[in-house]
Amino acid sequence: MAVTDLAQTELHFEVIKPKIGARVLNSKAELLSGALSSRINALLETSGVLIFPQINFTDEEQIQFTNLLGGNVNEIRGEAMFKVTLDEKINQKIAEYLKGSLFWHIDGTMHSMPIRASMLTAIVLASEGGDTDFANTASAYDALPQERKDAIADMRVVHSLWRSQLYHTPEPSMEQLEDWIDKGEAELPLVCTHKSGRKSLVLGNTAHYVKGLDPKDSYRVLHGLREFATGEAFSYRHKWTVGDTVIWDNRTSLHRATPYDPASGRMMHRTILNGTEAWEN
Ligand code: OGA
Ligand code: MN
Repeated sequence: MAVTDLAQTELHFEVIKPKIGARVLNSKAELLSGALSSRINALLETSGVLIFPQINFTDEEQIQFTNLLGGNVNEIRGEAMFKVTLDEKINQKIAEYLKGSLFWHIDGTMHSMPIRASMLTAIVLASEGGDTDFANTASAYDALPQERKDAIADMRVVHSLWRSQLYHTPEPSMEQLEDWIDKGEAELPLVCTHKSGRKSLVLGNTAHYVKGLDPKDSYRVLHGLREFATGEAFSYRHKWTVGDTVIWDNRTSLHRATPYDPASGRMMHRTILNGTEAWEN
């Protein structure tokens, strides 16, 4: 296809639900031409999660596409692409932390600069389970009654890696607990205001407690909002086919894997997009 033709390329997509999700139907050549990047980014912001069904990116193509959308930052192991698997032989210590991905979360809440978006490609599926759930916390915030918005407007939440790990390992050894505690904490606003003016909820398994509240009230706030934000209207479950790529706006989404056998061989390849806006504005 000539360059002039690509400049005319339209973004072909179908909306999955009004408040979350769209399927992008353009060809791989069109996606990798870069001609659609700004429109894809705009759609990502409104839809929260974009599906590229059976686009069959190679690792190099996924990295290229990530860069075209705004820049690939290095992954956990310092490489451009990270293998998401619970297989201990491939991921040694990290497989343990990845068990936290089975509970609603935001990627990298401990990072000083939030990850703007994360991208996953399905390489090997689990024979059972292993879907991925997404929820749009900006759509959910918009739908809250005004009095609830007012009540939570100034709340501050302490996030910690160790809290997220207690979901899957509630009785850790002291050595285990100290290792998690070493990974640090971050204090974040409960309601994030984006440069666009849109607001979203900052929740998930790392959200430990609301500062200044009694523990019961803190749990009511965090779990009440999580229950609301992950409700049917704001959430989408992706049932993978090998070769699918999915990208989500990490600042306005919660996501989780549904349970699967760690020995199933399930393998996803992940890249992450450079953050451009802090949680605080
Ligand atoms: C991730 C993640 C979910 C999944 O890679 O950040 O949470 O379904 N993955 O593997
Ligand atoms: Mn994740």
